[in-house]
Amino acid sequence: MSSNQPYIRLNDNTMMPQFGLGVWKTPAAETDSIVRHAVAAGYLAVDTAAIYRNEEGVGAALAEHPDIHLTTKVWNDDQGYDTTLHAFDTSMQKLRRETLDLYLIHWPRPTEGKFVDTWKALVKLRRDGRVRSIGVSNFRAEDIDRITEATGVAPSVNQIELHPRFQQHALRAYNEKHDIRTESWSPLGQGKILEEPVITAIARKHGKTPAQVIIRWHLDNGLIVIPKSAMPKRIDENIAVFDFHLDAPDLKQIAGLDCADGRIGPDPSIF
Ligand SMILES: NC(=O)c1ccc[n+]([C@@H]2O[C@H](COP(=O)([O-])OP(=O)(O)OC[C@H]3O[C@@H](n4cnc5c(N)ncnc54)[C@H](OP(=O)(O)O)[C@@H]3O)[C@@H](O)[C@H]2O)c1
Repeated sequence: MSSNQPYIRLNDNTMMPQFGLGVWKTPAAETDSIVRHAVAAGYLAVDTAAIYRNEEGVGAALAEHPDIHLTTKVWNDDQGYDTTLHAFDTSMQKLRRETLDLYLIHWPRPTEGKFVDTWKALVKLRRDGRVRSIGVSNFRAEDIDRITEATGVAPSVNQIELHPRFQQHALRAYNEKHDIRTESWSPLGQGKILEEPVITAIARKHGKTPAQVIIRWHLDNGLIVIPKSAMPKRIDENIAVFDFHLDAPDLKQIAGLDCADGRIGPDPSIF
């Protein structure tokens, strides 16, 4: 299963699986068994965050799988240099890892003005060898410009809301120009776009499910994708995407679903 999964090279020269499991809203008490199921099904990466309150479950499930690529994120309340270093230690204890694969700033919170100091802490963590890759989430182009100018270090990843209804062409182009990989959060639109007729028609054509078509769309667009499910059957369904491709007419039709107001989550400039 794992051998046919693609990796993406980050700007720090590490390799990251292009597909993984998201665990936002996965109940803490079930996280251990859900992540174990995903690893058994062939998942090579897991995306959690301190605020998801399930890092312990992820750590327990991955204790014997140091090879699984692991991402966590520093929460808004912990932004700042020393507070971020402390938050990182707390996460690492829960995750039972010596070295983390990817640490992200969860939100920029531009009105608080702490993300540059937070980024300096991430740069230190990487210099100290505690984390292999560092990145950001929900950062706008101007936020990335600020941290890069302040430290000379560009993020490796920008994890942003991205799905067929909100395709983020401008920010993707900015990321690409600066050698930053784009990672899609809420890649299935939180399950709200699975009944979209364009998607269901393409799914029928390929003998696949709507979720599989949307995940394939992210992969075919070079995006890192982390669909969440807490249901074993859907976890299996979501990884069965490495045996087909979308064709040019499919991609054109899905391109037409993009909406200026298609955002589901908060707006990073005010959240
Ligand atoms: N950085 C950020 O600010 C941020 C924000 C949001 C999310 N994220 C990350 O991105 C991950 C994914 O985003 P998300 O959890 O918001 O939403 P998502 O992956 O777009 O969708 C998850 C929803 O779709 C359902 N679902 C999953 N697979 C399905 C399938 N095959 N058929 C039908 N329904 C299916 C899930 O229900 P069941 O669980 O019941 O199957 C859940 O309700 C998160 O878990 C988190 O790791 C990051």
